[in-house]
Amino acid sequence: MSDADRGRVAGKVAIVTGAAAGIGRASACRLAEEGAKVCLSDIDEAGAEQGAAEIRSLGGKALALAHDVAEEADWRRVIDATVAQFGGLDILVNNAGFAFAAGIEETTTEQWRRIMAVNVDSVFFGCKLAIPAMRESGGGGAIVNMSSILGLVGTPAQAAYNATKGAVRLFTKGVALECAESGWGIRVNSVHPAYIHTPMVERYAETWGSLDAGLAALGKLHPLGRVGEAEEVANAVLYLASDEAKFVTGTELVIDGGYTAA
Ligand SMILES: NC(=O)c1ccc[n+]([C@@H]2O[C@H](COP(=O)([O-])OP(=O)(O)OC[C@H]3O[C@@H](n4cnc5c(N)ncnc54)[C@H](O)[C@@H]3O)[C@@H](O)[C@H]2O)c1
Repeated sequence: MSDADRGRVAGKVAIVTGAAAGIGRASACRLAEEGAKVCLSDIDEAGAEQGAAEIRSLGGKALALAHDVAEEADWRRVIDATVAQFGGLDILVNNAGFAFAAGIEETTTEQWRRIMAVNVDSVFFGCKLAIPAMRESGGGGAIVNMSSILGLVGTPAQAAYNATKGAVRLFTKGVALECAESGWGIRVNSVHPAYIHTPMVERYAETWGSLDAGLAALGKLHPLGRVGEAEEVANAVLYLASDEAKFVTGTELVIDGGYTAA
């Protein structure tokens, strides 16, 4: 038996969006380590290719594709290319997303529409178009949608982001129940990280005046006393994507160092 046969997602084909950096990159690498063939998609094609090259250099199978997740046509191209290259689709990680901080009166209509398009339309397109590809692949499937603790609780100056991540949480449950009722063997779950040390949070932390000061201040918001690491979220993604979670659907897996327990 080869190493790839022994992995926790051995032989499965995965698409991870927003895989050039942060949680997406860590999730793509973790899935590949455990035997999945992975398409890393991102609006940052060079970054996605860098991740794919890293996976290939370690003996894994990876493909990088340019992808704006807000564009339905891009989704069709990415799914078709992945199926053509790897022979099917078993796992989709709807990870790409962004945040901005602005009070409700300062938030422009353009900002509202763009964050809805990138964080919510993307998850709709991904589920709508991946499910038929998974059904054609014949072995069921697993979809993991990246929400946030800010899809569970509100925070000032993040109302638009709160709205997108709350939408992802409940959309996930609706699609999960539809898939369960249809008997397709496709599970759909959401992941809810607190502050995780990624380029997105580095940009936010720097508004404290220095990265270290920002990370220390954000760390104090978590009962465990620090921000999380991308690999800690990737492990949750791997679990939900794997057959170890075969009785888990419609759930919200919170990875937050205790943030929402307080
Ligand atoms: N970092 C955190 O603290 C945190 C916490 C909770 C949830 N999340 C969520 O996790 C996901 C990943 O966050 P991250 O911290 O790794 O962010 P990041 O900014 O570090 O990385 C996000 C990646 O998504 C890509 N991307 C952005 N817009 C895109 C688009 N339209 N199409 C395709 N790719 C696009 C970027 O190029 C980048 O590579 C996001 O959905 C975010 O909302 C992050």
